[in-house]
Amino acid sequence: MRFSLLFFVCCTLMACRLLPQCAAAAKARHFKWEVSNMFWSPDCEEKVLIGINGQFPGPTIRAKAGDTVVVELKNGLHTEGVVIHWHGIRQIGTPWADGTASISQCAINPEETFTYRFVVDKPGTYFYHGHYGMQRAAGLYGSLIVDVADGEEEPFKYDGELNLLLSDWYHESIYTQMVGLSSKPFRWIGEPQSLLINGRGKFNCSLAAAHTPGTEKCTAGGNRQCAPVVFPVLSNKTYRLRVASTTSLASLNLAVGNHKLTVVEADGNYVDPFVVDDIDIYSGDSYSVLLTTDQNPSSNYWVSVGVRGRQPKTAPALAVLNYRPNGAFRLPALAPPATPEWNDYAHSKAFTYRILSRAGTPPPPATSNRRIELLNTQNRMDGHIKWSINNMSMVLPATPYLGSLKMGLKSAMSAARPADTFGRGYDVTQPPANPNTTVGGNVYVIEHNTTVDVVLQNANALAQNVSEVHPWHLHGHDFWVLGYGDGAFLGDAGDAARLNLKNPPLRNTAVIFPYGWTAIRFVADNPGVWAFHCHIEPHLHMGMGVIFAEAVDRVGEVPKAAVSCGATATALMAGDHV
Ligand code: C2O
Ligand code: CU
Repeated sequence: MRFSLLFFVCCTLMACRLLPQCAAAAKARHFKWEVSNMFWSPDCEEKVLIGINGQFPGPTIRAKAGDTVVVELKNGLHTEGVVIHWHGIRQIGTPWADGTASISQCAINPEETFTYRFVVDKPGTYFYHGHYGMQRAAGLYGSLIVDVADGEEEPFKYDGELNLLLSDWYHESIYTQMVGLSSKPFRWIGEPQSLLINGRGKFNCSLAAAHTPGTEKCTAGGNRQCAPVVFPVLSNKTYRLRVASTTSLASLNLAVGNHKLTVVEADGNYVDPFVVDDIDIYSGDSYSVLLTTDQNPSSNYWVSVGVRGRQPKTAPALAVLNYRPNGAFRLPALAPPATPEWNDYAHSKAFTYRILSRAGTPPPPATSNRRIELLNTQNRMDGHIKWSINNMSMVLPATPYLGSLKMGLKSAMSAARPADTFGRGYDVTQPPANPNTTVGGNVYVIEHNTTVDVVLQNANALAQNVSEVHPWHLHGHDFWVLGYGDGAFLGDAGDAARLNLKNPPLRNTAVIFPYGWTAIRFVADNPGVWAFHCHIEPHLHMGMGVIFAEAVDRVGEVPKAAVSCGATATALMAGDHV
């Protein structure tokens, strides 16, 4: 009797581990949020930003793998819609909760509420952010952290955790920025005024000045919203730093004075651990790094975050690693670690190439069914400046794709299909020979359960000798990063055979280096309509993205609230089903 009871308990526990739907431990976690404009001083200069429940950054969501997150989101902005995207969460079976305006849902109207309900199936470091216009750059973001399910363990040990959500901050409003980007002549947004760690930075205030009388604007006491970020730690412990970047423009590098960092996670996937002095982090990336507090305990140390990939015109963001019991505001004895040279791409590539999957990560299918080659170019269109993919710059429709494609509405179907390739022979080292481009929906129809390779090809921008870094982010999936290369991708003539099929990292964001290419592979096993785009906010706004319409006929019933606008609303009124 005893034995069989024990047996029963054991088996139930074991089955629980195997079944994702095991209800014993999984919880629903409810959040009630209101998005609104508010005065805030992220870098000690008062501006208006978009916050949640009166906070900036928004509240941190903390859940366990397998939990259902429910966010009742009220739009408290008075004159514009809003949506929130859960960056890195694949939304398996819930594509309408992906939070992309014009793609997965209708923007939520002022004073209305939309409920996001989705499962966080995989432990990791994620974040969320606005995905309508440039609302992310207006401060609409926060952290989303998923712990392992009860009874599970991370494959590494640590004593404590520090969270660093990185962003950049502009003093011009996003409205001014958006008007500039679409004006003739074009007005570039320029470099950010400050970098923020957990929503706090300094503009024209040094951290040292924050302790000098007469600089009240900059002092911790005078302005809590820009108070220096302090991470209290104890000596001889190991901490997990969760680092995510939701910058609008800046590519970043993070270092902690005198401390080594062991990279263990990237974008919610475990990586083969490796030790570095500093990490590069692009917009859309997240990492976990382990840090051991093995330095002289009588000192504090700087955490420094600086700009990479563009001439740095923005001062590094600093935070204090505070070895207790030292005072939190005792300034570190050592100067902040220097950010590597902005254009030291060898350093960036060396870091990126070291990211490989941890043993036990599922390998990619050995072959793919389709290869989509996407050429990234900067172009002109009627005097406007655009970013184009295979010579088509993405514009989003009034009626979101998920609803219109599911309902088979003509408006969505008529869009011309973009090309799978731009052909060989394009000279990536020169400005485009014909800089004129067109606009389109850039919708790629993807068949269910096919394996798709995408090769992102970088090129020279409009100006001679300019090619920028672009971090591309895929919604609805993780992908394997099969390889990187310099110059033009040679396809079957060479590069295709040299891809890493053995231990490529699984990620949701991958960078393309100047004049280079990046190859990824994913399995189309998650019906939905997914954005795939450069995570640099102004670049996306200028058209740098495509849409993957994946097996939309297999999408379950779409909640009415996600289709309550445009042509889908009209069709619903006429009695159509969604
Ligand atoms: Cu974090 Cu479509 O983006
Ligand atoms: Cu870009």
